[in-house]
Amino acid sequence: MSFDTRAHNRAMTHFDEHDSFWLFGYGSLIWKADFPFVERRPAWIDGWARRFWQGSHDHRGTPAQPGRVATLVRAPKVRCHGMAYRIEPAVLAQLDLREKNGYLRERVAVQFDSGQAEDGLIYLATEHNAAFLGDAPPAEMAAQIAHAHGPSGSNRDYLLNLAEALARQGVHDDHVAGLVALLPPVEGEG
Ligand code: BEZ
Repeated sequence: MSFDTRAHNRAMTHFDEHDSFWLFGYGSLIWKADFPFVERRPAWIDGWARRFWQGSHDHRGTPAQPGRVATLVRAPKVRCHGMAYRIEPAVLAQLDLREKNGYLRERVAVQFDSGQAEDGLIYLATEHNAAFLGDAPPAEMAAQIAHAHGPSGSNRDYLLNLAEALARQGVHDDHVAGLVALLPPVEGEG
């Protein structure tokens, strides 16, 4: 079973002719910028809520024990804060590979403290991809996150890194904070 989205994303050519454009990160892209960028700035997008509803069997889990990572769901009147990176189009091939497990490119309006709004891009995993897990009771999601590990590290660290990065930006996200509060203690500690 393949969830690989690279061919689909290559067909989304909207930004190909731009010298550079904004990529909005709302998950690991906030704290793990392992790609070249021209500049980065805290930013937000309106009408989207961050949710740990995407399964990860290639980064923060395995096919046998998938983790849960962030995606966005449409939510009128909700603002999602994150980090925007101005990148050159060539960088997308690298990001398509990193985010190939169900994430599709989607255009959004990226907004900045300056009042400026720019056409930008997110990687979005919708309910139409095979790795999508969707909602679950928060304690169940936290337990799944606490126990999943994958080639990129533990799912717990993914959640905690995101929570810390948001805190550094002065951002509170109820969903993220709720999951952190429900994480069971690390086995062998406490
Ligand atoms: C993000 O941080 O925006 C992101 C990270 C991984 C996959 C999709 C989006």
